Amino acid sequence: MSQNPSPRQIVQQQLPKQAQPGPQASAFAPSNIALCKYWGKRDKALNLPINPSLSVSLGQLGSRTELSPIDGAEDRVILNGEVQSLEGGFAAKVVSFLDLFRQPGSPRLQVDTHNNIPTAAGLASSASGFAALMLAVDKLYNFGLSPEQLSAFARLGSGSASRSIFEGFVEWQMGVRDDGMDSHARPLAQSWPNFRIGLLTLTSAAKSVGSRAGMQRTVDTAHLYQSWPLQAAADLERIHQAIEQQDFELLGATAEQNALSMHATMIASWPPLLYWQPESVAAMQQVWALREQGLPLYFTMDAGPNLKLLFQGQDQQAVLKAFPSLQVVAPFEAA
Ligand code: ADP
Ligand code: DP6
Ligand code: CO
Repeated sequence: MSQNPSPRQIVQQQLPKQAQPGPQASAFAPSNIALCKYWGKRDKALNLPINPSLSVSLGQLGSRTELSPIDGAEDRVILNGEVQSLEGGFAAKVVSFLDLFRQPGSPRLQVDTHNNIPTAAGLASSASGFAALMLAVDKLYNFGLSPEQLSAFARLGSGSASRSIFEGFVEWQMGVRDDGMDSHARPLAQSWPNFRIGLLTLTSAAKSVGSRAGMQRTVDTAHLYQSWPLQAAADLERIHQAIEQQDFELLGATAEQNALSMHATMIASWPPLLYWQPESVAAMQQVWALREQGLPLYFTMDAGPNLKLLFQGQDQQAVLKAFPSLQVVAPFEAA
């Protein structure tokens, strides 16, 4: 058993006393795609990672969450207009996150959340979902938390949510403290207006093994996982260098190798974890063929079958010709 303080103790120690909820609060947070992935936890209760990670936030794509106090003994959780059973996993995670911040007698809440990306399909809905929820909680109770606290607390809902508190390129430092309060994200100063991400949604079906269970299985059963922290540390440095020098090929190549290395550790787990569908492999091969022909096009993939393509603005037409259904995001263009 871990001797660390519980998530609730950690949060309660830092909250201003006697916060009363306002009548309503609403917040948006973007989803994010990691170029250097978070895969594996050193503390499951606090979502403390084994390696640092670096992502790019997806601008307008993500979650909007509205909170309002309600009469009654139970919370009410609505996702994309559908009331969620309090017995189900979705609402249970939301309610336990809310419980970190409120006193037992305080009013129950209605949580009305909308994702404009597919939920639980490897498009980081847990990242935007818990970041938006954290921002809305901060507003509802008027806590006035710092960006670092918002990020560290969003991490308690989902690790990748620590990065969705910020726009642009974001690094989540792993930290060393037992209470995890130094394990939060920070935005990088650099922007890259020409940078594009293409979401290639091959299927929006929810994955059968979520990121949480998937990374735990990998840590517990894959000997290959031992090489992952080294890979991630090297890739993080290279991605920083690529961003600094606006070296797109270095960025794309490093992100693609990082993603495939992570998937190698998943495949080496037992029972094996293969998030790829035949369409995923076909799309990878298409990317490789186009690159062979001279198009600077790379991909990354998370715990799901969909690919995220990485390219530059001047190649958008060529990329769209090859992948007509692609949803293109320009993370650094003004909204
Ligand atoms: P994904 O690839 O979409 O991040 P995960 O398995 O990591 O898939 O996370 C899916 C989980 O994220 C959901 O089961 C739910 O617990 C949480 N989640 C998704 N969207 C929201 C939201 N808008 N608000 C709160 N939690 C959310
Ligand atoms: C493959 O943040 O969804 O997308 O912390 O258990 O909620 P929990 O997991 P989650 O894991 C994301 C894994 C990933 C890589 C990444 O986003 O860095
Ligand atoms: Co997730």
